[in-house]
Amino acid sequence: MGNKILILGGSSFVGRHLVVRLKDTVIATYFRRPFHNGVFFDSLSMKVSDILNSKEKISHAVILLGDTNPKTCVNDINLSNKLNVESIKLIINDLIRLGIKPVFASSEFVFDGNKGNYIETDEPNPILIYGKQKLEIENYLKENCSDYIVVRFAKIFGTEKMDNTIFTNWVEDIKQHKEIKCASDQIFSPIFVEDIVEAIIRLINKESNGIFHVAGIKPYSRIELIKMFVSEINKIVHLNVHITDCSIHDFNLKEKRPLNVSMNPDKLIKETDIRLSDVKMICQKIAKNNFSSGINQENHKACYLSSINLNNLDTVSVIESERSVAYFCKKLPALVNSNIITELKNILEGLDKNLRLCLHNSPASEFHTMIILERKGKYYRPHKHLKKSETFHIIEGEMAVFIFDDNGNIVDSCVLDDVNNFIYRIDNNLFHVVMPLSDVVIYHESKIGPFIKENDCIFPDWAPDGSNDDMTIRYTNALVEDRNNA
Ligand SMILES: NC(=O)c1ccc[n+]([C@@H]2O[C@H](COP(=O)([O-])OP(=O)(O)OC[C@H]3O[C@@H](n4cnc5c(N)ncnc54)[C@H](OP(=O)(O)O)[C@@H]3O)[C@@H](O)[C@H]2O)c1
Repeated sequence: MGNKILILGGSSFVGRHLVVRLKDTVIATYFRRPFHNGVFFDSLSMKVSDILNSKEKISHAVILLGDTNPKTCVNDINLSNKLNVESIKLIINDLIRLGIKPVFASSEFVFDGNKGNYIETDEPNPILIYGKQKLEIENYLKENCSDYIVVRFAKIFGTEKMDNTIFTNWVEDIKQHKEIKCASDQIFSPIFVEDIVEAIIRLINKESNGIFHVAGIKPYSRIELIKMFVSEINKIVHLNVHITDCSIHDFNLKEKRPLNVSMNPDKLIKETDIRLSDVKMICQKIAKNNFSSGINQENHKACYLSSINLNNLDTVSVIESERSVAYFCKKLPALVNSNIITELKNILEGLDKNLRLCLHNSPASEFHTMIILERKGKYYRPHKHLKKSETFHIIEGEMAVFIFDDNGNIVDSCVLDDVNNFIYRIDNNLFHVVMPLSDVVIYHESKIGPFIKENDCIFPDWAPDGSNDDMTIRYTNALVEDRNNA
């Protein structure tokens, strides 16, 4: 590029990405949000020449600043006109005088939304104040400037947390189990912010002129986008997302929204050879960044294969007994990660029983390996298995393990937790009991199968059978006291 690029609105969402890409070849401004090497500029009270050093050669100025929210534009039309129209016209006058080529960021909202798939020669007919302001600047450029670029942006999205764009906002809503209301009748062509940056750079480098639609290759409705996003998340972890299908008109907005503002990016592609990102691919990336465990971040396919979907009876079966609910994984590999643990904890909240996720496929399996969630205050009866030794490995919380001789005397005990003492293995033919000490304990237990209901456990006559609450409470209190006094 040689000369420098001036970015008016370097602190904007687009501006920040452009500054990162162009590094020290830019002079970039901010108004309320300063950044490193940024130059303060208030378009309502300053001129472009106020911030430029006469020695610096500037070829282009990318005009990104303004009130970019249609809602606030209509709430104070006078103020938004001052910023979006009057101050931009003065900027353009200055740029023309200084021999700097304007690159103006316009919007899909210059269209009324009755047609969709708009091309650059389609007649604009904005119905929003914000769109009218953008069109007024486009026309001003057409009338007053022989050499300019107008980039009409479609809805822009990014991948960074808190960037306040469509998918990343949904990440927070999904994590907080919020209802997501999405319109099925508003169509647009979302575009990835890095594609916006690439398009601007290519148009500048090519010395292009005129209007370009900088839009994604495919139009979508919001409901299609959320469904696509949730489907990508569900390949990683199953989450129940509460989506409500609605109309854009249900949002009681002050101004009626145009319905189909999708734009056709063919002219841009032809001019610059840009390869625009596939929204679905970026969606996968956002889902992976926000919903995968660390181990799987690099290997989506493995993650998909091993994801456990507790709501899909093709992949798990459920057996409920008097004391527990057990999910059995019908397929391997199976990955236990923090997401599935959170899901199990949510399920346990609504249960009065313990919960297990068995990574073996049925009670008859030869090897049993399971994640068990148990609550404090329930009575777990001492027992032994004649031919089965067992290993407990704590995932979260605390639990005591007691080992008894055949007469009920404690021969060993231990408090297991997820910090210091986390694995405990006991031999077969030994009476033992586990007792949750935290409100909920989550542990991994493994032992040989199969589970033979009648003969699996042998219960001693020296411990309560659980039918009398007073007895069980006295017995478990005494055990804890014994351990504390040991
Ligand atoms: N985001 C989209 O989906 C989208 C879609 C279509 C078109 N566009 C257009 O693309 C451009 C960039 O959008 P964006 O979303 O990246 O913008 P944004 O994040 O909303 O940033 C707005 C910019 O305007 C600056 N600004 C506000 N008042 C100012 C004043 N009085 N003087 C000087 N600067 C002032 C802000 O500076 P501070 O932050 O420092 O206060 C900020 O840099 C805008 O023209 C927008 O209309 C955006």
